[in-house]
Amino acid sequence: MSHTILVTGATGTVGSELVKALANRGLTVRAGVHSLIKGDRLKQLNPEVQLVEIDYARPETLHVALTGVERVFMLTPFSEDQVEIGKRIIDAAKQVGVQQVVKLSVAGAEVTPGIQLGRWHREVEQYLEQSGLAYTLLRPGGFMQNFLNYNGEDIRREGRLYMPIGDGRVSYIDARDIAAVAAVVLSATGPEHHGQAYTLSGPAAVSGSEVATAISQASGRPVSYVDVPEEAAAQAMAEAPAWLRGSMLELQRLYKAGHAAGVSPVVEQLTGCPPRSIGQFTLDFQQQFQPAS
Ligand SMILES: NC(=O)c1ccc[n+]([C@@H]2O[C@H](COP(=O)([O-])OP(=O)(O)OC[C@H]3O[C@@H](n4cnc5c(N)ncnc54)[C@H](OP(=O)(O)O)[C@@H]3O)[C@@H](O)[C@H]2O)c1
Repeated sequence: MSHTILVTGATGTVGSELVKALANRGLTVRAGVHSLIKGDRLKQLNPEVQLVEIDYARPETLHVALTGVERVFMLTPFSEDQVEIGKRIIDAAKQVGVQQVVKLSVAGAEVTPGIQLGRWHREVEQYLEQSGLAYTLLRPGGFMQNFLNYNGEDIRREGRLYMPIGDGRVSYIDARDIAAVAAVVLSATGPEHHGQAYTLSGPAAVSGSEVATAISQASGRPVSYVDVPEEAAAQAMAEAPAWLRGSMLELQRLYKAGHAAGVSPVVEQLTGCPPRSIGQFTLDFQQQFQPAS
């Protein structure tokens, strides 16, 4: 009988791809979902997948979800209490005897002083490192899927990609490649990935203009990049809580300065396949860049 693997954040960008990747390998997957209704789609796609409700605001749900689980993919939502949530998952995993935790972190988490987003992840990484649990850290850069999840509406409606990052190049990664790496690590039979931290990126660093060109070519409609002044970006996020606004602007400054352009060989080393390019990503999701008819 295979080990049970719990995927937290299973309805999200990375989690939903990971559930697919693990189920395709014939592994026993328990999908941790915030609401069972949202999880229904996962169940329809993968009837073998078990669904379990997890609400980080109700720690007892974590204990139920983790019971009987050997390995965990740990994803903390982008929220103000992400550090607390991360530590709570680690404590609960330890209590119920989980053997391995794979934590989704962020590129540059190890850099000091770094940026707020990295520091939050690093605090949880360190808590995990000191927990005594076997662990692996995955540190991806910006997701290509952000162009759908965050910029998609502007692209579909106006044919514009707004970002305050000048000519900054970023080595965006497709979330499917993060999931592919996580699946390799979670299905390994030996300890080769224990104690490792893997920085993950796409195959090349691309500018905002190059992303817009790729979307145009894939979707067959003009899409242009608009380099937004930082003040205008801050204004556009005026309604957002200060922690979110501040951490996003700080991240975008780092992009603009070219500090997120590093390319890592790890996706290909671990999966045997090169990471998907921005051209491949935009082709695969071209329908989602089309305006609503
Ligand atoms: N986006 C990037 O470019 C990027 C780059 C590097 C690292 N990261 C890191 O990646 C992580 C986010 O990954 P993602 O984009 O795949 O996540 P996502 O798509 O935002 O999904 C978050 C998941 O967590 C669930 N969730 C949210 N609040 C919850 C709660 N209180 N209790 C239980 N479940 C809850 C959501 O379920 P519901 O939707 O049902 O609430 C969803 O399944 C963050 O840690 C972020 O720092 C992101």
